[in-house]
Amino acid sequence: MIKSFLSACIIFWVSITSAQTSIILKADSAKQVINKNIYGHFAEHLGRCIYDGFYVGDSNKIIPNTDGVRNDVIAALRKMKIPVLRWPGGCFADTYHWKDGVGPKAKRPEMVNTWWGGVTEDNSFGTHDFLNMCERLGAEPYISGNVGSGTVQELSQWLQYVNFDGKSPMSDWRRQNGRDKPWHVKYWGVGNEAWGCGGNMTAEYYANIFRQYATFMNDWSNDYKITRIASGASDADYHWTEVMMRDIPHRLLGGVGLHHYAVNWSDKSSATEFTEQQYFTTMKSALLMDELITKHSAIMDKYDPQKKIALVVDEWGGWYNVEPGTNPGFLYQQNTMRDAMIAGVTLNIFNNHSNRVRMANLAQTINVLQAVILTNKEKIILTPTYHVMEMYNVHQNARLIPITIKTDDYTFGNEKLPSVSASASKDSAGLIHISLTNINSKEEETISLTIEGEKYKSVTGRILTSSKLQDHNTFEEPEKIKPQIFKGASLKGNLLSIKLPPFSVVVLELK
Ligand code: AHR
Repeated sequence: MIKSFLSACIIFWVSITSAQTSIILKADSAKQVINKNIYGHFAEHLGRCIYDGFYVGDSNKIIPNTDGVRNDVIAALRKMKIPVLRWPGGCFADTYHWKDGVGPKAKRPEMVNTWWGGVTEDNSFGTHDFLNMCERLGAEPYISGNVGSGTVQELSQWLQYVNFDGKSPMSDWRRQNGRDKPWHVKYWGVGNEAWGCGGNMTAEYYANIFRQYATFMNDWSNDYKITRIASGASDADYHWTEVMMRDIPHRLLGGVGLHHYAVNWSDKSSATEFTEQQYFTTMKSALLMDELITKHSAIMDKYDPQKKIALVVDEWGGWYNVEPGTNPGFLYQQNTMRDAMIAGVTLNIFNNHSNRVRMANLAQTINVLQAVILTNKEKIILTPTYHVMEMYNVHQNARLIPITIKTDDYTFGNEKLPSVSASASKDSAGLIHISLTNINSKEEETISLTIEGEKYKSVTGRILTSSKLQDHNTFEEPEKIKPQIFKGASLKGNLLSIKLPPFSVVVLELK
């Protein structure tokens, strides 16, 4: 009698203190590798991303640089472990003629950037500058070719210029321009947003164009080892993906793109002064990524059940109004804890879909959209998004651990979103990392996480949070938001208890 009374009390006690979020982690089931390129970036000739961002010119004596590329930027991106960098666009890619950007800088012709601000560029940052910079960054280059206003020959020659080791007109020209060995660029985009700024094509028309371009894009050993990436769908344009998978021979197709921004096009709103409603709408748009990937992947599975072709989310991120007083064509925006939330949930989505998503590129690296770095003359700041990318880099090339998660709702008005998102992986040293993002703007989440299959002795972690969602780093206060040691997790046996503050990102390590 007493025994059953006691067990009833225990059950009651457990139920009133039970966690709002419960997670089960199957530690012994880690298989799928999370391709490090999921943590990739994107640098377009747009606003102050290249010029003023990466590149300040080799005659600049004020800002420390190597061949014109900022040393502080290289150091920060290396620390973040940037794995791959897409260039030169974006919409710009389909206006770019690469031959104008090689050879002596003084002799390079100018060009007008018709998509972004109508500014005149001097082509001083070109192919050598980009590829040598990637070597310094330790990042794989991903070049977007010009299909919209270029020619098959122009793109084919670009490949020959950067990848051919033997003697040819293009490789000889590369040598004359100071580079003996080829760079062996693996990732090549065949145009960008072919349905829009890349040529306003139909999916069927573009699929044929792709076949034509891809045939003449080879790595000059005829083994087709380069990865050709088709310009992908916008958001929920599933027909586009269907046609790419159906109409392009798979031996020519390494990846299919997808672009999705967390944006409300009818009310982009300020990057820093936003209401809770605007925050909620942004998060709803960011979380849509999961559904988009699921549905595009299902189409790809129909044609490619072995998942040989990657889904490449080569543009994603938050998109708001530009900062007051800046050129509207430059897309310069600040970056707050809201952006940390976008990054936290999106990277968890990518990890959990890593069997199909094998590359993604945040738009964009410096001074444009959801940037990881902002620059102002000789100063730089690292944004909250930078810190999330750096905290999550423990997942790069680790093996995904399947999780099941039950979380309660973050409600606003009549709508609701899941409060907590998570993903987990095991690295080559056997350490487990769990990344958790609580998007709830008001509620702390108590998480109860059960580890199945293996035993761990200790837990440590880092947290990114702040007192207001609108908080951000500025040139006056560059370290307002930065990762801190996290003390809200405790491990007893196989049960991990975690207290996750409102709008916070936490990465835990289990040993
Ligand atoms: O990232 C900014 C722009 O957004 C890119 O140039 C284009 O591809 C997309 O529409």
